[in-house]
Amino acid sequence: MSGFTREKLQSYARGKRGEFEGVLEKVVEIPSVSVDPARKGDVHRAAEYAVSLLESFGAKARLYETKGHPIVYGRFDRGPSYPTVTVYNHLDVQPAEGSDWNTEPFDFIREGDKYRGRGTTDDKGPAMTALFGARYAVEQGVPLNIHFLWELEEEIGSPHFETTIRANAREFATNSVVVSDTVWVSRARPACPAGLRGLQGLRLELQTGETDQHSGTAGGAARNPITELCQLIAECVDGKTGKVKIPGFYKDVVPPTKKELEDLKKCGFTVKDFKRDHLFRSLRVNDALEVMKRIWMMPTFEVHGIAGGYQGPGVKTIIPPKATAIVSCRLVPKMSSAKIVKLVKDFVKKKNPDVKVSAEHALPPYEGKTTGPYADAIRGAMKFAFGKDPVFVREGGSIGAVLSMERVLKAPVFFLGLSLPEHGYHAPNENFDWPQAEGGMAAFADYFRRLAEMRS
Ligand code: BES
Ligand code: MN
Ligand code: MN
Repeated sequence: MSGFTREKLQSYARGKRGEFEGVLEKVVEIPSVSVDPARKGDVHRAAEYAVSLLESFGAKARLYETKGHPIVYGRFDRGPSYPTVTVYNHLDVQPAEGSDWNTEPFDFIREGDKYRGRGTTDDKGPAMTALFGARYAVEQGVPLNIHFLWELEEEIGSPHFETTIRANAREFATNSVVVSDTVWVSRARPACPAGLRGLQGLRLELQTGETDQHSGTAGGAARNPITELCQLIAECVDGKTGKVKIPGFYKDVVPPTKKELEDLKKCGFTVKDFKRDHLFRSLRVNDALEVMKRIWMMPTFEVHGIAGGYQGPGVKTIIPPKATAIVSCRLVPKMSSAKIVKLVKDFVKKKNPDVKVSAEHALPPYEGKTTGPYADAIRGAMKFAFGKDPVFVREGGSIGAVLSMERVLKAPVFFLGLSLPEHGYHAPNENFDWPQAEGGMAAFADYFRRLAEMRS
C-alpha cells in the first residue's frame, strides 16, 4: 500500500498535530478519576466526550453502562468478511491532589514537545494516538475492521469489565486485541511487554478502642493500633530488603529462563536512568540485573499508606482507637491471588488475630506471547515507526482487562505501548510528548496494515 512510507505518515502526523493537541486537551481536562465517588459525573462526561469524538472521526460508537463507570466502544467497520482488531485503552486516571504538581493537574499544558496533565501518558495520550493512527489506516482503505474499547475503571481494578464484555460478547467479538497502556525501558528503544504482574489489594484494620484517649492517663496499658500494625507489617516484610517473610509467599514463582535473562541484559535498562526517571535518591539494590528482576519478575508486598492517629501540627498526646494499612502484593505468572489472600490472612491471624484483613481488587498476572505473526507485526510496526526493533521484556504493572479480553473474546492480546519512564505514571507532573505521539500514530497505522496483510 503506497500510503505506508515513513515520510507519508510523518507528514500526516505533523499535519494533524494541532488537532491531536486539541483533542488531548479536551480529554485531559475532564478529571475522570475513577476511584473518587465525587468524580462520577466527570468520568461519565469523559465517556460521553469519547463517544462524540469517535463519531466525529467517522466511527460508530456507543456507551455501555455498567454497575460502575461506563465502557465506550467505537467501530470503524469495513465489512463482515474482513478481520477485526480491537484497540484497548483506558480513559480513567489516578487521583492528582497534593502540592507536588508544578501546574494544575487537570489543566492541559503544552511546553514545546511536552504535554503535561494527569492522564496525558496513562492512558489518554496513547489512546488518542491510536485513534489518529486508525483514522489514517481507514482513510488509506486498509481492509480491516478497527474497533476501540475504552475502559473507565482500569485504575480501580476493572471491577465491571469482564461481566460487561461477556454480556455483550457478540458486539465485542474480535480476532485480536492490541493494548496501548505500557512503558518502554527507555526512549532509546521501543519495548513491548512479554508479561505483566498481577495485583492483590489488601486492607489491614485494627481497632482497639472507641475514641482518642490521653496517652498520659492510659499509655503503657492501652494497646496502640498503629504500633501493632507497624509490627505486623514488619513481620510480613523486611523493610530494608523487601523480602516477604510470610512462609510460602514465593512458592509458585518461576525463575526467569536463560533467554529472558539474556534479553534483560540487552534491553537498555540502567540503574542511573531508572533513578533519574523516578526521582529516587537510593534503591534497595544497585545491580541492574537485580533491579530488573525485582521490578518485573518478582512478587512484592507493598504498603501504600497507613492511616490513623494524629497528623496535625505539634504533638497531640493521644492513643488512637484504630489504624488502617493499605497494602498490595504484585504477583508474577503462576501465582494465584486467592492463594496469596489465604496466606496473608492465615499469617495475620497467627500474629495478631484482632487485625481484620479484607481483600480488595484482584488482577491476575499475565504471560505474553513474543513469537508468531502478531508479535512479528508488532515488531515490524515498531521498527517502521521508531527505527529500532523493540525489546520484549516483562513489565511490573498490572492491567486487569487483559486476561478478561483473552478469556471472553477468545482473541490473542498484544501490546503497543508508547509511554516512557520519565513520563511519570501515577506521579505528579505526569506528561506525554509529541515524538511518542508522532511515532505512535505511524506505528498503529502500520500495525493495522500488517494485520490486514496477514489475512490476505
Ligand atoms: N498502565 C498501567 C499498568 C502498567 C504500569 C503497565 C506499568 C506497565 C507498566 C495501569 O494504568 C495501572 O496503573 N494499573 C494499576 C492497576 C491497579 C490500580 C488496580 C497498577 O498496576 O497499579
Ligand atoms: Mn494505564
Ligand atoms: Mn495507571
